[in-house]
This record gives sequence, C-alpha cells and structure tokens, in this order.
Amino acid sequence: MKESAAPDDSARLAYEAFASIYDDFNHLNDYEMWLGALLPELERYGLRKGRLLDVGCGTGRAFEPMLRRGWEILGCDLTPGMLAQARRKFAGAVPLEVADIRALPVFGEFELVWALNDVINYLVGEGDLERALAGMRANLAPGGLILFDANTLSLFEASFASGDDERMSVGEWRWVGQEKGVEVGGIFAAQVSGGEIEPHVHQERHWTEDQIRVAIESAGLEMVAALGQREVDLQVVLERPPDERNHYKVIYIARAAE
Ligand SMILES: C[S@@+](CC[C@H](N)C(=O)[O-])C[C@H]1O[C@@H](n2cnc3c(N)ncnc32)[C@H](O)[C@@H]1O
Repeated sequence: MKESAAPDDSARLAYEAFASIYDDFNHLNDYEMWLGALLPELERYGLRKGRLLDVGCGTGRAFEPMLRRGWEILGCDLTPGMLAQARRKFAGAVPLEVADIRALPVFGEFELVWALNDVINYLVGEGDLERALAGMRANLAPGGLILFDANTLSLFEASFASGDDERMSVGEWRWVGQEKGVEVGGIFAAQVSGGEIEPHVHQERHWTEDQIRVAIESAGLEMVAALGQREVDLQVVLERPPDERNHYKVIYIARAAE
C-alpha cells in the first residue's frame, strides 16, 4: 500500500476555522439519544464500565453523556482550537491532549476507545485508517472495545453533493457541498462560510465496509459488529446488515484479536 509522504493537514485547518461555532452549528445532534442506542450494543459485547479514551473528542460533546454516567475520560484531538472549546466546559474534569489519531500515543489502558462523529472519514490518506486503528488497539485494556462510525454514500450524497442546501445550513452559516455526485471510496469536499468565521473546506473520505474490515484485521483487531444507523421518529435505530443507501452511518465495534 502506498504511504502518504506527509500527513494530510486539511482536517486540522478546517476545524481551527470551525471550532468557535461547532457546538452551535451541531446543536441538533442529540448525543444522549445516540449513546442510548450505542451503549446497549457495546454491552452485548461485554463492555465493562471504566475508562474511555475519546479520540477526535472535539469540543467534548460525545463524552459528556459518559461523564454523567461516571466514566473516567481522557479526550484527545488533532485540533487545538476544538480542545480549547472543550477546556472551557470540562477543565478539571477531563484531561485533554492534542494528538493525531494516525500517530496515537499510548495514554493507558481503556475499557472503551472510540472515535465518534465522522472522525474516521477525515482520514483521507492511504494507510491512515490502519495507523489509526493500530493506535486505538494499543490503548485497549484487556477485553476492551473499540467503537467508531463511518458515513455512508447516502450521507455523502445529502451533505457533499447537494450544493447549497437549506437543510445543511444553520443560522447565518452555510454548508455547501462541492460535489456533483459521489462514488464508492471517493474523497468529497464541502465549504463552510458565513458570519465571522473564515470560509473553509471539509474534506471527508468514504470508507467501504470491506476496506474497514481489512484495516481492522491488519491492526490486529477483530470486527464484532457492523450496524447500519438511521433515524426513525427522531430516534436512532441500529440495524443489521448495514446498507449504504438506507443508512446514513455504519457503526463498527471491534476488539483485540485472540
Ligand atoms: C465532526 S468532529 C467530531 C468531534 C466529536 N467527536 C463530536 O462528536 O462532537 C471531528 C473531529 O475529528 C477531529 N480530527 C480530524 N482528524 C483527526 C486526526 N487525524 N486525529 C485526531 N482528531 C482528528 C477534528 O479535529 C474534529 O474535532
């Protein structure tokens, strides 16, 4: 597999520009509801309450419901501006570290290591996914679980190939898909602008289930579940098998291979 000459920096540049509005822009995302669907699945595979490593934690929206449930959390992210927002809310309660998922330090042993809400899609280089999963594995406690999501083609179609679509924009900010169409395994761009923020481009890659399965195995992990996610009556529903057209995300659960 071809190695990238230098890690792609587009995600950090985008999130430095996006950080100040991230929570407002995404205020409709209900993480309590999402966790309400994810945690029972993790429990099916033996999740034990303990320490959570949130990789790509951003402003801390995903780990907040786990903090409320009494988990001990360490958050890390590529983008200092996102962590600055997280510190405003969680300083003293959650240690927060700058770290790139493609070269993750070993922070300790965690019962759960996750990367939630598109983090994996921001990995666009060859080998990035394998490096990320190997780093997540190195932080697992014995019996620990890895959880992440990956956007499907139908999500990319709706948010990267629908142009200047009202549904993707919030308040004074515009999210404008830059693509005419989407293809399996492609890298897609969308521009965010408006208000006081610096206009910037988000670049995400579509990862197929096969690519993810291969990366999971090459990182010394075994996939224990792949679930399609959609919303029905404003509730998150997880279904087997995942379907690129009917689901907007695929949720992956993995653990260290025997
Ligand atoms: C959509 S946000 C999700 C943040 C948080 N997980 C949440 O659910 O609100 C994507 C996050 O991934 C981070 N990210 C992108 N590439 C990364 C990388 N290579 N290593 C670590 N974090 C990365 C970005 O800085 C951003 O905070």
